[in-house]
Amino acid sequence: MTPKVSSSKIHSRIVGTGAYLPERIMTNADLEKIVETTDAWITERTGIRERRIAADDEFTSDMGAKAAQQALTMAGVTADEVDLIIVSTFTPDTIFPSTACRIQHAIGAKKAGAFDLQAACSGFLYSLVVADQFLISGLYRNILVIGSEKISSVLNWNDRNTCVLFGDGAGAVLLQATEQGRGLIVSDLRSDGGETEMLTIPASGCRMPVTQQILDQKSNCLFMAGKEVFKKAVTAMGGSMGHCLKSSGIDSQEIKWVVPHQANLRIIDALVQRLDLPREQVYVNLDRFGNMSAACIPVALHELNVSGKLERGDLILMTAFGGGLTWASAILEW
Ligand code: UT7
Repeated sequence: MTPKVSSSKIHSRIVGTGAYLPERIMTNADLEKIVETTDAWITERTGIRERRIAADDEFTSDMGAKAAQQALTMAGVTADEVDLIIVSTFTPDTIFPSTACRIQHAIGAKKAGAFDLQAACSGFLYSLVVADQFLISGLYRNILVIGSEKISSVLNWNDRNTCVLFGDGAGAVLLQATEQGRGLIVSDLRSDGGETEMLTIPASGCRMPVTQQILDQKSNCLFMAGKEVFKKAVTAMGGSMGHCLKSSGIDSQEIKWVVPHQANLRIIDALVQRLDLPREQVYVNLDRFGNMSAACIPVALHELNVSGKLERGDLILMTAFGGGLTWASAILEW
């Protein structure tokens, strides 16, 4: 399927952003004390220098609610005016009920529907596209789209291949229906369920319920075949961004900011080369936060927004890749 170019008169627009990063900073030097690794290896191979780790009593819904509240305040929209809450996470507080329902209660969005959307690291873009459909159809006016993750809770802290890569955090946007601007101009959602084993938490679903043996083997923790994922990520995100640019007729030089998934600086550099993107307009914060999965893109959008680097009319190209496999790209007018 080719990317979808919007032809609707009503558009969605981000009118508020928020982010929450836990207080505790874990540096590469801290990790040297936990697993056999070095600051030099992590920095050179990934670009990551530090990441945030949520407190024991701080959960995905707590972080998501804080980010969401900030987005509402910025937008000047009350919790009562929120029609829908979509939370993207692969580290929900509980398998059910959804983390979205917990956030709905925490922020007091009494009239909102709420559900979680599972597309791993691509989840925020998937959620944004779903929310956009509710808005352009005229069904809803205000939708909170949240990416929140407590990945530290599913890491195998003995596995240096994965535990150095991820961080905790949350980002949120308030998406509103408007007739101004061009909104979400084009989007491309993709998947390949033939590669589920490449990036997964094997146990704790119905396929492999938790037993003592599972816990001993750490099969309830995140597993990633890093090298394979790396190659797939570059090809998939590169292709998807290319499709979005081509089908919308937008030249890469017209893009004000590229906001890619923050997994590895070498992946981002490969994408810059492949698509001839202006490097200084590619937003990077993985050095400070590591890979926060679905929270990466909304946190980046919030940072760009509050630092005054965005103006109405700017074109933003976003792309993500993660477990599923899933990948997605979209271009929106700010
Ligand atoms: O968010 C979802 C998408 N995720 C991604 O896109 C992540 C994609 N993958 C990657 O970013 C990279 O593949 C990694 C950062 C995970 C790994 O980098 P790599 O350059 O592909 O390293 P590698 O897996 O080929 O490992 C090279 C060596 C190995 O040692 P030997 O076998 O050559 O002796 C590893 O054991 O580096 C070793 N190694 C480490 N050494 C020090 C792996 N992890 C570490 C570590 N510290 N933390």
